[in-house]
Amino acid sequence: MTRECADPGEFTGVVALDGPSGTGKSTVARRLAERLGVRYLDTGAMYRAATVAVLRAGIDPTDDDQVAKCVAEIVIEVSTDPRHQRTVLDGLDVTAEIRTPQATAAVSPVSAVAAVRKKLVAQQRELIAGGPIVAEGRDIGSVVWPDAELKVFLTASEQVRAQRRAAERPNRSVTEVAEAIRRRDTFDSSRAISPLRRADGAEVVDTSELDINEVVELLTQRALSVASRG
Ligand code: DC
Repeated sequence: MTRECADPGEFTGVVALDGPSGTGKSTVARRLAERLGVRYLDTGAMYRAATVAVLRAGIDPTDDDQVAKCVAEIVIEVSTDPRHQRTVLDGLDVTAEIRTPQATAAVSPVSAVAAVRKKLVAQQRELIAGGPIVAEGRDIGSVVWPDAELKVFLTASEQVRAQRRAAERPNRSVTEVAEAIRRRDTFDSSRAISPLRRADGAEVVDTSELDINEVVELLTQRALSVASRG
């Protein structure tokens, strides 16, 4: 039997949701958190905020030393309310700025810097330790929180992912978007530290043929079944 929402306090664990872009990960993670009545952590928003800091400082995002120095000094705050996402950099609301094409183009090299990952992973662990949560990213199940009660790796065919992303960006062609996704995936999957990969014990869910509602439904039932096993 399926249920619309979890009872309050029913799911008390951590859901680690990883995968590349265009799989519906962010929407699924937010809606799953709402259904389970728990918090939501978008770790990509934190890497994007670090990238905004680098760009604002006029630093070359591929200059690892300068990037590390810059990110060491910043304070990033993210809300964990799935209904109200907000990202703050040094007291300044950058919720919109982290999604600009400039930030998106520069985020891969910034997130590959060891010192950046060390700082942000520590902050992510503190946030996750604060109670039940759905955390999404690239390395949640493999590095940030390997003991998550439910680990999921979302995938979708390259073509479907490009079509989904292009639908969000009407001024860019599917071919252009596909190329940008491929470049970012290759970078994120081949970096030395915490590359994008399926974590040990993670369930692979291919969303190519599923709509968002179906994926949310599937994962809600999986989380509740994990919860009922205690
Ligand atoms: O999920 P997103 O597109 O907002 O993520 C932005 C970038 O941040 C992505 O190119 C990879 C990086 N990232 C990461 O390296 N580790 C995470 N846990 C989350 C995101």
